Amino acid sequence: MRRLTVLDIQAMKLRGDRIPMITAYDYPGARLADSAGFPIILVGDSLGMVVLGFDSTIPVTVEHMVHHTAAVSRGSSIAQIVADMPFMSYRVGSDETLRNAGRLIQEGGAQAVKLEGGESVAEEVKKIVESGIPVMGHLGLTPQSLHRFGGYRVQGKAKADARKLLSDALAIEEAGAYSLVLELVPAPLARLITQRLSIPTIGIGAGLHCDGQVQVLHDILAFYPDFVPKHTRQYANLSKTIMGAFERYVDDVKKGSFPTENESFQMDESFLSDL
Ligand code: KIV
Repeated sequence: MRRLTVLDIQAMKLRGDRIPMITAYDYPGARLADSAGFPIILVGDSLGMVVLGFDSTIPVTVEHMVHHTAAVSRGSSIAQIVADMPFMSYRVGSDETLRNAGRLIQEGGAQAVKLEGGESVAEEVKKIVESGIPVMGHLGLTPQSLHRFGGYRVQGKAKADARKLLSDALAIEEAGAYSLVLELVPAPLARLITQRLSIPTIGIGAGLHCDGQVQVLHDILAFYPDFVPKHTRQYANLSKTIMGAFERYVDDVKKGSFPTENESFQMDESFLSDL
C-alpha cells in the first residue's frame, strides 16, 4: 500500500470517515503506529516535554524536529507524516519560514508541516502551500503561546473569543491549509467550526464532532509521569508495565539469576588456562 496524501485525508472528511491521528517521535513508535493503521502520524513539538524533558514546547528547535521526524519517517511507510514547526520557526520572516518547512520535508522526510496560529500566520501558511508543502493549522490552545495564555486553558468560551476562533479557522482554510487541529476548544464551538470548514478538523480536547481526533502517544499509554490531561483516555499503562519489568530485572541481576546459560554464549574453554 502507498503512503497516504492530503487528498486521502480530505476524502475521509467527504466520506464521513473519522480520522484517527497519534503523535510519534521515534522509529519504534512510528513502526507500531503505522502498523496499527493511523492515517496520520504527527511528530509533535510535544516531544519537548514527553521525550526531551523540557517543561514546555518552547525550547524545541528545528534541529530537534528534523532529527525526530527523520526517525519517524524511517519507521513508517503508509501514514502521512506531519512535522510540527517549532516556536518562532515561522514567525521571523518568510525566507526563514520556507527554509525551516523545507528542512522538515527534505531532511525529515515529512509530507506536511503543522503550525500554530490564525490570521497572524495566514500569509506564512499561504507561502508554504505555494512552495508545494501541505500545511495543517492548529488553533484553540496553541502551546507555543503558553506565556500569553498564562496556562493550558480551554479557549473560545466567551462570545468574542469564539468569534475570533471561527474567523481564524476560516483564514487558515482560505490561506490553503488542508486540515486544522483544534486543541482545548469547547465541543459545541468545535462542532460549529467543523461544519463551517470544508477541510477536516482534528480535535484534541475538542469533543466528538471534529472530523478526527489526535492524542499524544505518551498520554494514551500512560508513559509520561508528570501530567495526565483531562481529555486523555489511557488505553494501556506502560509506566506500570515498564516499572514491573525494571524491578524484576534489577532483582534478577542482584540475586544472580540473570543471565542463564541460555542467555550466554559458550566456547571451547580448554585453552583458556594457557592464556
Ligand atoms: O505537539 C503536539 O503533540 C501537538 C498535538 C497535541 C496536536 O501539537
